Amino acid sequence: MCGIFGSVLKEGRVAPIIHDGLKRLEYRGYDSVGFATIDSGVLQILKDKGRIDDVVESLGLDKMPGSTGVGHTRWATHGAPEMINAHPHSDCEGRVAVIHNGVIENFMELKEELLNRGHNFTSRTDTEVIAHLIEEEMKGDVGLGEAVLKALRFLEGSYAVAVVSATEPDKIYCARNESPLVLGVSDTGTFCASDVPAILPYTNKILYLRNGEFAELDKDGFTLKLINDGSTLIRAPMEIDWTIEMAEKQGYPYFMLKEMYEQPSSLRNALRLQQRYLDLLTTFLDRGEDLFLVAAGTSYYACIAASYMFSKLARLTIYPVISSEFVEQYGSSLGVDSVVLAVSQSGETYDTLQAVEHARMRAATVIGVTNTVFSSLCRRARAYISQQSGPEIGVAATKTFTSQLMVLSQLAMKLARTKGKISQDEVDELEEKMFQIPDIVEQVLERHGESIGDLVNKYVDKNLYIFLGRGISSATALEGRLKLLELTYVPSLAYPAGESKHGPISVVEEGVPVVFVCPRGESRKDIVGSIMEMKARGAKIISVCEEGDKEITSISDDVIAMPMGIPDVLSPIPYVVPLQLFAYHLAVQKSLDPDKPRNLAKSVTVP
Ligand code: G6P
Repeated sequence: MCGIFGSVLKEGRVAPIIHDGLKRLEYRGYDSVGFATIDSGVLQILKDKGRIDDVVESLGLDKMPGSTGVGHTRWATHGAPEMINAHPHSDCEGRVAVIHNGVIENFMELKEELLNRGHNFTSRTDTEVIAHLIEEEMKGDVGLGEAVLKALRFLEGSYAVAVVSATEPDKIYCARNESPLVLGVSDTGTFCASDVPAILPYTNKILYLRNGEFAELDKDGFTLKLINDGSTLIRAPMEIDWTIEMAEKQGYPYFMLKEMYEQPSSLRNALRLQQRYLDLLTTFLDRGEDLFLVAAGTSYYACIAASYMFSKLARLTIYPVISSEFVEQYGSSLGVDSVVLAVSQSGETYDTLQAVEHARMRAATVIGVTNTVFSSLCRRARAYISQQSGPEIGVAATKTFTSQLMVLSQLAMKLARTKGKISQDEVDELEEKMFQIPDIVEQVLERHGESIGDLVNKYVDKNLYIFLGRGISSATALEGRLKLLELTYVPSLAYPAGESKHGPISVVEEGVPVVFVCPRGESRKDIVGSIMEMKARGAKIISVCEEGDKEITSISDDVIAMPMGIPDVLSPIPYVVPLQLFAYHLAVQKSLDPDKPRNLAKSVTVP
């Protein structure tokens, strides 16, 4: 996730407005910053790594001349956060400046083709191919707008882009496919940005660009076209009545709710990983003798789920270990044949980094999955994958958890293919299902986003909750319970359902809510027995199960019905969503702030 902003003003300098716009988009990323403005027929690009205010100050970006310009705040996905990888990017001749948010999936092929044609690349980003593609099209003696349109047609993946050039000094060309882009019109000029808050101080007349749309901005407004055939579209902006604070949360009352609703799109991004990094990580895992998944908090629960995935799909034993325990538990037995896959949203969790350091000292191979490309974990790992979820502001992890699972399931699937332990048909089928998961999560949010609030209402006064599942669903149950604990502070338990009779069932009494996670498949085995055990002791049963599962429905007090056909091994991704919603609604009904749970920090960088 990155933030993009552009404006064509009727008069005055645009640079301070770009600065202000980017500040309002800082939540989308903050590892590097760059501006491009046009003045007296000259395009000037200034950029560097660092946070917005620091780079603006050090490069004097606020003082750049010109009333047309674009700016970018970056959250690295391809290429480290370095000056050369900061946006805007340009072509060989420095004629165009391109800013981009998204992931160009076919950039390696495009880059190779462009290199063969003699283009010189200066960065390691996917974005730079767009600038060179435009340059290539401009050789055909077409105008800038036409060249941008033609270039866009080569791109596969997600993008919100904005392009400026000194050849058309009072224009911005922009387009979107799956990454957000909004336009704004006012008496002072025209704007484009990744999100409404950046534009709102100047106008409330907003148009949301849709997938496959392209816009030409000038000081008086914009014209819209379809990318695929260049045909013109007519759509007027709408007037929105949000305050800036509401706009920052896109109209959602809390960041956590916004982030839960972002999951369909963050999951799609997590499916756009670069194959060569997936290959690299699977090669390390394949070579290792002792394999460990090391993480804390929510990331640890993603690791528990992943250990089932690796075992079921690739027949690989990989131990999930809480990072603060790792050195004590396995530190002495680590060696050159050990592989430690550290999973950390922030890449900065102290205990995880300690585990990583220890593993490195013992000559083990350390690899990572993280959401923060410039983190300490990345610097210490032999190889890592970025999960590409964008910054998460709510302290309780939601979209980053489901994306971690998506990344880990792709690794497991890749190993399944290379090791050939399950049939290719089975892997193909699972992979097809995996690509449907973002849509399934979207359906779950649509169906249950609000109604879980009514369900929660019935249980708002309970002072104990239990979350149970079997198999991979025990990881889902653990994460559901962690959300509840973090947000509502209500004491609660979660453990694999089969464990009840070994102790925890002693706390069950009349009216205690027990949430069962029971997707159809292997983890549903024996769950009916577990439900009956709890019912017999007066528990209230809330089941998250497949729609049409009559047996579970008949023995439950409340049912959260999930779409049919979700494979058990991928079920934690959609099945955790109602549990996130449950915790969120319970917190709100208890008048607690879900974005800022007491005593907790987003990133724990201390022992
Ligand atoms: C803190 C956060 C959790 C997070 C955990 C691990 O406890 O509040 O949401 O899961 O740290 O963080 P990491 O960045 O390593 O995934």
